[in-house]
Amino acid sequence: MPNQSPTDNIWEAMSTMRAMRRLKPDPVPDDLIQKILQAGQWAPSGGNTQRWRFLVVRNPEVKKQVQAYYSRLYDEQVGPRYASSAPPPGSDAARYQRQNAAVKYLTDHYHEAPVWIVACLEGGENPGRTAGSSIYPAVENMLLATRALGLGTTLTTRHTSYGKEVDAIFGLPPGVQSYAILPIGWPMGNFGKLGRGPLREVVYGDRWGQPYQGA
Ligand SMILES: Cc1cc2nc3c(=O)[nH]c(=O)nc-3n(C[C@H](O)[C@H](O)[C@H](O)COP(=O)(O)O)c2cc1C
Repeated sequence: MPNQSPTDNIWEAMSTMRAMRRLKPDPVPDDLIQKILQAGQWAPSGGNTQRWRFLVVRNPEVKKQVQAYYSRLYDEQVGPRYASSAPPPGSDAARYQRQNAAVKYLTDHYHEAPVWIVACLEGGENPGRTAGSSIYPAVENMLLATRALGLGTTLTTRHTSYGKEVDAIFGLPPGVQSYAILPIGWPMGNFGKLGRGPLREVVYGDRWGQPYQGA
């Protein structure tokens, strides 16, 4: 059954929150963006430092300049990877091909999403294991809020391969980096079942390789 509906049920939101890459250009009201931003700011951060900064981008020129890099990266990295890699767990060749088609669609239409939220972090780059760990919880909260409102988005990080160039387009000052761009709009398609492998194949008990009873 088609599912484009908003939901306040977190289990329904999580289990149907597909990457929505085909978006209508129709405007998204400010009060909904406000709710999404608030959800982002409710996230945890290391030491409660709250060094996130969110950029709301509606300017077509700014989006178009960034899309040029996003598109270049499809040609340089993403397209070739899809052409040569196997489908991930829970997918198959046909599904993977549809995923690539959607990825290409978003690449070509990235700038047409009416609103972007750019998730940034202040305080210098961290090359260690915790890189991004104080911004991605906020990003996930915003993804879930977007789904709850019946809006579509996808977590995108591709632009970071041209991070310096893209951050300059956004006018970020030294010491601030962008970690994700969420292109937000009303979805053309439906939310629905996610393709993931069996849970038991990714969970161990006590020590690596030992089965976990219950998964
Ligand atoms: C760290 C990260 C970066 C991602 N970057 C991109 C991106 O740049 N472009 C894109 O189209 N999707 C991107 N995605 C979305 C993933 O491709 C998507 O979550 C995955 O295919 C599962 O999709 P599904 O939830 O619809 O099954 C990214 C996801 C994550 C977690």
